[in-house]
Amino acid sequence: MSITTEAELTGMKAASEVVALTLKEMRNFAKPGMTTKALDNYGGQILNDLGAKSAPYLTYGFPGWTCISINKEFCHGIPSDKKILKEGDLINIDVSAELHGFWSDNGGSFVLGRDVNQHQQLIEASKYILHQAIHAIKGGVLISDVGFIMETEAKKRGYKVIKNLTGHGIGRSLHEEPHEIANFRDRFNHKRFKKNSVVAIETFISTTSSYAETLQDGWTMVGNKGGFMAQHEHTIVVTDGKPIVLTEMNEI
Ligand code: CO
Ligand code: CO
Repeated sequence: MSITTEAELTGMKAASEVVALTLKEMRNFAKPGMTTKALDNYGGQILNDLGAKSAPYLTYGFPGWTCISINKEFCHGIPSDKKILKEGDLINIDVSAELHGFWSDNGGSFVLGRDVNQHQQLIEASKYILHQAIHAIKGGVLISDVGFIMETEAKKRGYKVIKNLTGHGIGRSLHEEPHEIANFRDRFNHKRFKKNSVVAIETFISTTSSYAETLQDGWTMVGNKGGFMAQHEHTIVVTDGKPIVLTEMNEI
């Protein structure tokens, strides 16, 4: 969406604070021995208490309130009472929701407890790349130029980017124009970031895969060549200068 009134900015801020707070609280609540279903229910309760509705549930009928993906799962992991968190797991939580007609999206990967499987470097790279990308965005900038920055920074650190997962416009629904904010220079994409538009910027930084594939369950995505992936996501408003990071409360 494009922000045209103060009320729209206020509405986007409120929805964004809800998803950011939920993501932060879920990250703090996650403990070894807990099922991903219990973690999801905790997040779903916070959304509900704050008057918000899960976006993936509302939009796609996703079987959970949030997406929780563990280790080899890249994204869209289904919360399950059979999946039990362990020390050192690479966990990705993605929380998106609707509040009073406004939609916001954020996500992040983290290591549970001690980093016994050495995922922290991948996570730090992904977070850094998200900040670099956001820093480069203002009205008039080519979307593909920001993708180029993301891929270049990933390569510098020995990582790849996932080509078939992208950031997206957001605001009055979960996914809006521009639908593809890729993590690489997409030379067929001539679109530019527009001042006052709301976009969800997300990284997809991986150790070995360049594409994500959907498993038999119809939701969970994993790498075409395996390995691990870290994702970090903020919803922002594009301006003439520094973007407004609406989900900054998630502390990513
Ligand atoms: Co998103
Ligand atoms: Co998301």
